Amino acid sequence: MRDVVIRPAVEADVPSINAIYNEYIVGSHVSFDTGAWGDEDRLEWFRDRVSRGYPVLVACDGDRVIGTSWSGPYRPKKAYRRSVETTVALADGVSGRGIGTTMHAILIDHLKAAGFHRAYAIIALPNDASIALHSKLGYREVGTLDESGFKDGKFHSTMMMELALDR
Ligand SMILES: CC(C)(COP(=O)(O)OP(=O)(O)OC[C@H]1O[C@@H](n2cnc3c(N)ncnc32)[C@H](O)[C@@H]1OP(=O)(O)O)[C@@H](O)C(=O)NCCC(=O)NCCS
Repeated sequence: MRDVVIRPAVEADVPSINAIYNEYIVGSHVSFDTGAWGDEDRLEWFRDRVSRGYPVLVACDGDRVIGTSWSGPYRPKKAYRRSVETTVALADGVSGRGIGTTMHAILIDHLKAAGFHRAYAIIALPNDASIALHSKLGYREVGTLDESGFKDGKFHSTMMMELALDR
């Protein structure tokens, strides 16, 4: 954790954010995207998030972006606008040092300051590390959607975890 800086992302971070997340899209079930994103699409995504007030953070070790934690709309219909969906992902080889927990705790602080009401983590199973991280930060399990995703020839269930931001 020493020397790791956690800060709001800027446009120059977008290729690194994209590379980190693409690893999980292509190499695992933890993201339900099914194909890697190009940097241009991720930049458009980033501008949209930031312009709508959804925090996007990065963790940096020197010049290198080693992780990201972001928020976005939970669902598109207007009545959901005080709720967010959150995520956190680290570059290969960085896990197990508390960086994910620290970065996501800071994202939660940003969400509280912005006045959001509820945060939801939607975790494709299995993912013990993600469940441990979210539980540690106060998220509680609210249910599991059985086999709600199909990726790489297999069904995956998703666990919904909820955090009250304004309590
Ligand atoms: C999930 C992820 C962000 C965790 O980040 P991290 O920096 O390794 O997490 P931390 O070091 O802060 O550890 C958080 C807790 O998880 C626990 N944990 C870590 N890996 C674990 C594992 N494989 N099984 C069970 N618990 C685990 C740690 O022990 C720690 O709890 P503790 O402090 O009580 O010991 C990281 O593993 C990752 O990037 N995973 C791939 C992307 C992903 O799945 N993101 C979540 C999408 S919902």
